[in-house]
Amino acid sequence: MRLLVTAGPTREFIDPVRFLSNRSTGKMGYAIAEAARDAGHAVTLISGPVALEKPAGLAAFVPVVSACDMLTAVERALPEADALVMAAAVADFRPAAPFDHKCHKGEMPEALALVPNPDILATIRPLKGSRCFVGFAAETDDVLASAGEKLARKGLDLIVANDVTRPGAGFGTDTNIVTFLAPGRAPEPLPMLPKAEVARRLIRRIEAALRRG
Ligand code: CTP
Repeated sequence: MRLLVTAGPTREFIDPVRFLSNRSTGKMGYAIAEAARDAGHAVTLISGPVALEKPAGLAAFVPVVSACDMLTAVERALPEADALVMAAAVADFRPAAPFDHKCHKGEMPEALALVPNPDILATIRPLKGSRCFVGFAAETDDVLASAGEKLARKGLDLIVANDVTRPGAGFGTDTNIVTFLAPGRAPEPLPMLPKAEVARRLIRRIEAALRRG
């Protein structure tokens, strides 16, 4: 298959030296890209700014910075993909009026006005067709309820839910504790596993979903 993966955080600049972002390190998304490559698939990886090395042997690697950049890159690559995994932690908001110069203390407004970023999955939903769409839900409370709601709202085939407050799960760790949620199926909790193994299991699920059509 041809797999499109997004990974890492996005950065939303306030001025040329400051930005809003989140704690994503990209490890889960990179592990998915590598597992798919190792299984013989053609992988395009769209990555926010991370400290990881670019994986070898990909069909394409597209570095991006902001959520808007990531949307453009996804829209460009999607027509050539059979499946999409949105593992990126996309920032939901960006500064309404970023400064074009370094903002000095006296200039900084008392409150920073924000505007919503596009929801990438919602924007590309009309282009889904027979593609398999997978999302991630990194939650801190009501994990399965929130993830189930996102699965339905975003029209996904699968969502990978995790409670980022649990030791061994979440940001920067080499392991993860996830539950696979698919429409009409009982939740499938996985034990604590290396991110590379979570990635392999996810790729097998996507392969099976595409075979079923
Ligand atoms: N996502 C996206 N575009 C955004 C935000 C998120 O495509 N602007 C994707 C993420 O890559 C992930 C899924 O949607 O696969 C769920 O992301 P999450 O941030 O948990 O969901 P939100 O829709 O932002 O919901 P909330 O902030 O209310 O939890």
